[in-house]
Amino acid sequence: MFMLNIEDLNVFYGQSHILFDVSMKVKPGETACLLGRNGVGKTTLLKGVMGLLPASKGKIYLDDNDVTKTSPAQRAKLGMGYVPQGRDIFPQLTVQENLLVALEARRDNIRKIPDVVFELFPVLKEFLDRRGGDLSGGQQQQLAIGRALALDPKLLILDEPTEGIQPSIILEIEDIIQRIKKMSDIAILMVEQYLEFAWRVADDYYIMAKGSIIESGRTKDVPLENVQKHITI
Ligand SMILES: Nc1ncnc2c1ncn2[C@@H]1O[C@H](COP(=O)(O)OP(=O)(O)OP(=O)(O)O)[C@@H](O)[C@H]1O
Ligand SMILES: [Mg+2]
Repeated sequence: MFMLNIEDLNVFYGQSHILFDVSMKVKPGETACLLGRNGVGKTTLLKGVMGLLPASKGKIYLDDNDVTKTSPAQRAKLGMGYVPQGRDIFPQLTVQENLLVALEARRDNIRKIPDVVFELFPVLKEFLDRRGGDLSGGQQQQLAIGRALALDPKLLILDEPTEGIQPSIILEIEDIIQRIKKMSDIAILMVEQYLEFAWRVADDYYIMAKGSIIESGRTKDVPLENVQKHITI
């Protein structure tokens, strides 16, 4: 039983072959962290999972549904919540509008922002009428995660949630991810360069090099130092 099951995924950017037979599984309630140096294909994998890039070969299952051929909007409706690298919120829209736009994709047609978003991120409630672009980096990241959670996803996909965020806020983001894990049987697939953070949060790790998974395992079985060599330049 897996919430996300990726089998032999291959993805191209035009003529360039970027991902080679990538397989990955995430159980409900668990977090998998994808690690690797810059440019190896981590974001490409997340985009492939979300349907923003097509699979040239391979399969993607969400909670046993084959979603390989479905659009990003359909995948959102089926339960994928995506927080892109660099956050990508709407800077001109208010916090409230950013959250309401996300609700359009909800599978149950509920158009009210779920309370849990404000429980996890009280600052969003406080700044409902503030424009997204006027928030700090950490607040924008909270908005981006809140927006994904507003869909009540089965799978939360996070691309470098700590990138460009000051250390005190990184701990806050970590605490939030831990709370999300405890609160539901949501599965999380996360790309993260900050290893200590990844090791505290993730159950499984996958290391990517040149578009292939070269190592994977349970974080609790492997000391952080053993994987450091694959990540640091
Ligand atoms: N829009 C694009 N068109 C063509 N090639 C691209 C495009 N985006 C990325 N690539 C190439 O695909 C490869 C993988 O990029 P990707 O963004 O997935 O890496 P990444 O592991 O997420 O890197 P980073 O750690 O910098 O975020 C790189 O060689 C990159 O040059
Ligand atoms: Mg990336």
